[in-house]
Amino acid sequence: MRSDVLPEDIQAVRDLIGASGFFSAEEVEVAAELVEERLRRGSASGYHFLFLEDAGRLLGYACFGPVAGTRGSFDLYWIAVQPDLRRGGIGRHLLSRVEESVQALGGRRLYIETSSRSLYEPTRAFYHRCGYARAALLQDFYASGDHKVIFVKVFPPA
Ligand SMILES: CC(C)(COP(=O)(O)OP(=O)(O)OC[C@H]1O[C@@H](n2cnc3c(N)ncnc32)[C@H](O)[C@@H]1OP(=O)(O)O)[C@@H](O)C(=O)NCCC(=O)NCCS
Repeated sequence: MRSDVLPEDIQAVRDLIGASGFFSAEEVEVAAELVEERLRRGSASGYHFLFLEDAGRLLGYACFGPVAGTRGSFDLYWIAVQPDLRRGGIGRHLLSRVEESVQALGGRRLYIETSSRSLYEPTRAFYHRCGYARAALLQDFYASGDHKVIFVKVFPPA
């Protein structure tokens, strides 16, 4: 696991998100752009990363950061695991390391947004299983019938 961001991560993230079967071409580019932004601006970008690798292969990664204008609220922007490695505990491990990092950075709440579409049912099951509670539902946010589901985990005071 590493938190340093390297130039080759741009393409590795593009490949991983592209292979996930969950995201549009536009979303793939957004994920890669966050890596580019981090490389350009460092931690001032507000984007933090964790990459899990084995023998040079990216197994999974997560991207998170503080929500501007809040005291201690963080967003999880991305989490993804290689399709052939899912259900092996990598996602849970990554998310728990994200939570440790958020708390080390002074975070008190971690928010996660996802779609209500049935495609994301396993993703929602994953967040529930990792201790996240549904905080809000924004009706028809992404499209008619495609709501935004917001999950949150609140960390105990240090
Ligand atoms: C969501 C994701 C990151 C989870 O990673 P993962 O390594 O597969 O998850 P884990 O193996 O750590 O699962 C932890 C628990 O979550 C639940 N879970 C995970 N995948 C699930 C699925 N497909 N169906 C039901 N429950 C699931 C299970 O309870 C699981 O524990 P168990 O296997 O002991 O029953 C991964 O499936 C993924 O990359 N999905 C596509 C991209 C995505 O949706 N990203 C989130 C939006 S940015």
